[in-house]
Amino acid sequence: MGKIIVVTSGKGGVGKSTVSALLGYFLKKNGKKTIIIELDMGLRSLDIMMGTEDEISYDLSDILSGACEPYKAIRTAEKFGGLQFIPAPGTVTSSLDTERFVALCIALKKNYDYVLVDSPAGIGELFRIALRAADEALIVTTPDMVCMRDAANVSFILEEEGLSRQKLLINKLSKSAFKKSGIRDLDEIIDVVGVQLVGVAEQSDAVSDLSASGKLSSDDLDVMKEFSNIAKRICGEDVPLHIYKY
Ligand SMILES: Nc1ncnc2c1ncn2[C@@H]1O[C@H](COP(=O)(O)OP(=O)(O)O)[C@@H](O)[C@H]1O
Ligand SMILES: [Mg+2]
Repeated sequence: MGKIIVVTSGKGGVGKSTVSALLGYFLKKNGKKTIIIELDMGLRSLDIMMGTEDEISYDLSDILSGACEPYKAIRTAEKFGGLQFIPAPGTVTSSLDTERFVALCIALKKNYDYVLVDSPAGIGELFRIALRAADEALIVTTPDMVCMRDAANVSFILEEEGLSRQKLLINKLSKSAFKKSGIRDLDEIIDVVGVQLVGVAEQSDAVSDLSASGKLSSDDLDVMKEFSNIAKRICGEDVPLHIYKY
């Protein structure tokens, strides 16, 4: 039986989809059978990031409405290490059925080691659906006060919903982000959000290239090694955290 991890944040644009794609890539590379479910209805992005933009036919709403069998909507991103994902609907459709979503997650969990649920921004209905089947939450924040407070609120809601296994990923770390926000160090971010840190990833063109052009950079780049290490920690490996001094 695999594990369902919801990747969430509160604030949009912090890197949930990017993090889902890269962690999925490295989990798969580490031999873990992994699939991503994209829940950002009307705002899909994984198809571009993972280089399958022209191939989308069925999507999550087709599975949940019974229009197709799940396997028909599962894409395999050959240019992205063969990682599999279920794309979000390209347009806003009527509401998704929560019970069917949970049933899909449970069915996938039987066949995959990791099911990553790339949740939409905000704490609305889709967010509530996203967390329903999850075993764990990965909360993504960037080093800015609004984002950190939103992450803390999301953590609180998850706790209220009974999802207390939470980890924090600090994304888009940079010297200028610390300077602008006046945040002292990583400890301050961890204190504000109140969730155990699983890793940090720097602001990097190599990462933003993914959403710009679907270009996956070399695994040897430092930022890619960071994502690789986070994937290993998620699997329970004891990989020391790189300490950033800004
Ligand atoms: N570590 C990073 N370095 C540079 N750009 C990043 C990083 N993480 C995410 N981005 C960029 O931030 C933007 C939003 O990322 P995305 O994953 O779509 O966020 P979300 O899913 O939370 O809305 C994209 O342009 C993406 O390329
Ligand atoms: Mg997204």
